[in-house]
Amino acid sequence: MEKFYNELLENNKKWVVNMLDKDPQFFERLSHGQQPPILWIGCADSRVPANEIIGALPGEVFVHRNIANMVVHTDMNMLSVLDYAINVLKVSHVIVCGHYGCGGVQAAMTNKHIGLIDNWIRHIKDVYRFHQDELNAIGDEKTRFDRFVELNVKEQVLDLAKTSIIQNAWEKKQAIHIHGWVYDIHDGIIKDLMVSIKNNESLSQVYQLDL
Ligand code: CO
Repeated sequence: MEKFYNELLENNKKWVVNMLDKDPQFFERLSHGQQPPILWIGCADSRVPANEIIGALPGEVFVHRNIANMVVHTDMNMLSVLDYAINVLKVSHVIVCGHYGCGGVQAAMTNKHIGLIDNWIRHIKDVYRFHQDELNAIGDEKTRFDRFVELNVKEQVLDLAKTSIIQNAWEKKQAIHIHGWVYDIHDGIIKDLMVSIKNNESLSQVYQLDL
């Protein structure tokens, strides 16, 4: 453990040398500012590092991560990231990326009492409740867990669309596409859930504001 820690700063120096070797202007160019075309909302899980798994370089992806890639519309942290990404950086794509084997989603399937995190897990449990009939009908626990991960991503895509930030952007005719992906920690492959939305039409009528 100590060895791993001690190597981190050494690894950083090697990384800088390697990057400059490939592109001598790399850091100089990035120091002038960022213009990432994508906002990534992913899980905090250490096995799902945003940039690495999509081959993106520093400067290419604006990233927000939390437990179980949740879009909670009272979460000031998430809203601040979203506002900055949409209104200042002008990203055109927002990707919600969940992953199979997600501990947060798994916890929401149980009745375990963990502690403070129970408050966060409750938001995931709400997703279970919305899809209770479909999920309870799946006998195999692993299949039900996988499906819950997918449904959770889909709900977060819809929750993003319902935020005032995305609604205002669509009202101003700013083109923003929201996508839902699931990363498979068993083989590294990302599955596009094909739940992309770019306007209010996919929202349930209850949430459709007059734009
Ligand atoms: Co996770």
